[in-house]
Amino acid sequence: MTELNKFDVNKIRKDFPVLDREVSKGVPLVYLDSTATSQKPVAVIDVMDRYYREYNANIHRGVHRLAEEATAAYEEARHKIARFINAKNAREIIYTRNTTESINLVAYSWGRANLKAGDVIILTEMEHHSNLVPWYILAEGKGVKIEFIPVTEDGLLDINVYKQLLLLNPKLVAFTQMSNVLGTITAAKEMTRMAHAVGALVLIDGAQSVPHLKVDVQDLDADFLAFSAHKMLGPTGIGALYGREKVLDAMPPFMGGGDMIKKVLLGSYTPNELPHKFEAGTPAIAEAIGFGAAVDYLKNIGMENVEAHEREIATYALNMLSDFPGLQVIGPSADKRGGVTSFVMDNIHPHDVAQILDSEGIAVRAGHHCAMPLHEKYRLPATTRASFYVYNTKEEVDKLIIGLKKVRKIFG
Ligand code: ALA
Repeated sequence: MTELNKFDVNKIRKDFPVLDREVSKGVPLVYLDSTATSQKPVAVIDVMDRYYREYNANIHRGVHRLAEEATAAYEEARHKIARFINAKNAREIIYTRNTTESINLVAYSWGRANLKAGDVIILTEMEHHSNLVPWYILAEGKGVKIEFIPVTEDGLLDINVYKQLLLLNPKLVAFTQMSNVLGTITAAKEMTRMAHAVGALVLIDGAQSVPHLKVDVQDLDADFLAFSAHKMLGPTGIGALYGREKVLDAMPPFMGGGDMIKKVLLGSYTPNELPHKFEAGTPAIAEAIGFGAAVDYLKNIGMENVEAHEREIATYALNMLSDFPGLQVIGPSADKRGGVTSFVMDNIHPHDVAQILDSEGIAVRAGHHCAMPLHEKYRLPATTRASFYVYNTKEEVDKLIIGLKKVRKIFG
């Protein structure tokens, strides 16, 4: 299924058991919260179930048949993930718990080894807390200075200010490739080129981009890319950090324990090779295998098709929402964003909107979406967010609009 005309959303929906459920009697689920977490296809659920039923064992430790099978499946998934983002080598893929842990790993390991008081790192005003707080913690301890690329009123990064900030010779630039609130797709390749020109490393938060866009780390030339399985049809509890091999090799370990060592003596240790150097303790084995199956599933659809389908649904939703009286969508025009629409309704709290939609079976998220500084920028305490993925349809957007009419009716 690699050509757009073969994309069949109704066929895809059949792969997701949860989409068949009713939220209450006679009220089918309309799931518009994939930015928080995606649903899982049978292909993912089944491989994890099969691991537990047929070859549950710890990895890299046993010589018995089950341990060998589990290790092979765990490492094969790593290769799939590496190919999915076009990493040069599977050694450049570190399993973590999620995007948050991936960023914390870089802040702790690379940050503590390479930054000193007075060094500058650049973030943006549209970051998720996961790409803010780890740097704040680092900055507190180290005396590192943080600068922010501002967000314009129409939800884009102000590249002119970025150019000015680069004159400060930052050591690192860290930014999202797709905002989880505005849906903005940032100019990641160009921003990376500009950062490298002044000698800075680049970390890209791919939590929202890797599930929805074709992401190629060699083309982006990123030094780090962080992402989570659960937002891309895979299980919770596992994510990945891509790191350029040379950079990862030079970094000290993050956590100590089993598997991340080559040798331990009383009083000293030698770290393991990549990627194991950064994977201490028994990892999320079933989840890694599920992650690999999610990647297979997305590859089979074709990321061009995923992107095109979401753009179609998001454009349709944006048009409908923009025409809705007394409702304001924040963020850029449809051509500059992915399948995320956050909005506010005049005089109605976003939580009330979400609650009434829930009574209609429509799942959306309300709140600050772990991006408080961005909401502050827009002078909003919260927004309601509808987000879309491969299994969403225009009919579901129509139901959202009908639900919003009900909200308006109730609140007058
Ligand atoms: N980062 C996730 C969201 O935006 C949890 O909802």
